[in-house]
Amino acid sequence: MKMPGLFFVWFLCICVCLPSAVLGNGNGYVLDKPVTELCLNCLCEALSECNATAICINPKIGTCGIFRITNDYWVDAGKLTINGEHPDTEHAFINCANDPHCAADTIQNYMHQFNQDCNGDGEMDCHDYARIHMLGGFSCEGELPYFYQSKFEECIENYQEQGFE
Ligand SMILES: *[C@@H]1O[C@H](CO)[C@@H](O)[C@H](O)[C@H]1NC(C)=O
Repeated sequence: MKMPGLFFVWFLCICVCLPSAVLGNGNGYVLDKPVTELCLNCLCEALSECNATAICINPKIGTCGIFRITNDYWVDAGKLTINGEHPDTEHAFINCANDPHCAADTIQNYMHQFNQDCNGDGEMDCHDYARIHMLGGFSCEGELPYFYQSKFEECIENYQEQGFE
């Protein structure tokens, strides 16, 4: 019996069939979810007042949806799509960014990748995610837009007063 050949087929299947069966084909997948629901709420409060009306603020740059996600951000986060759309189709980005669930998963993937202590307080938490979301994974120590920062802080403080972490 040709064991090496059989082993190869088995090996190929573990590497190719299994992941595509478990994870689905071509839609990207969510790695894990470092960002809490509460944090997502404060991000969208600060960005759009969580107004889920499908919208792209600047169609040319393409800052779309409840979290004002850009095309580059979506690409870095693994090009998640909705309704089994192929990620290379024309509207794949806009459709995902304008879908609150797909947009939230995009944030999860982005933070999974760029998770870091931007404000140097020894923790990686929502304050860092707010910075990474706005300033990107490579310059999150920078200055935040005043309006965004104050809306965000207000939302976090509100939750803390209500006894949430
Ligand atoms: C949500 O955004 C849309 C589009 O900008 C706007 O027309 C609508 O009034 C907003 N809804 C609320 C509740 O602010």
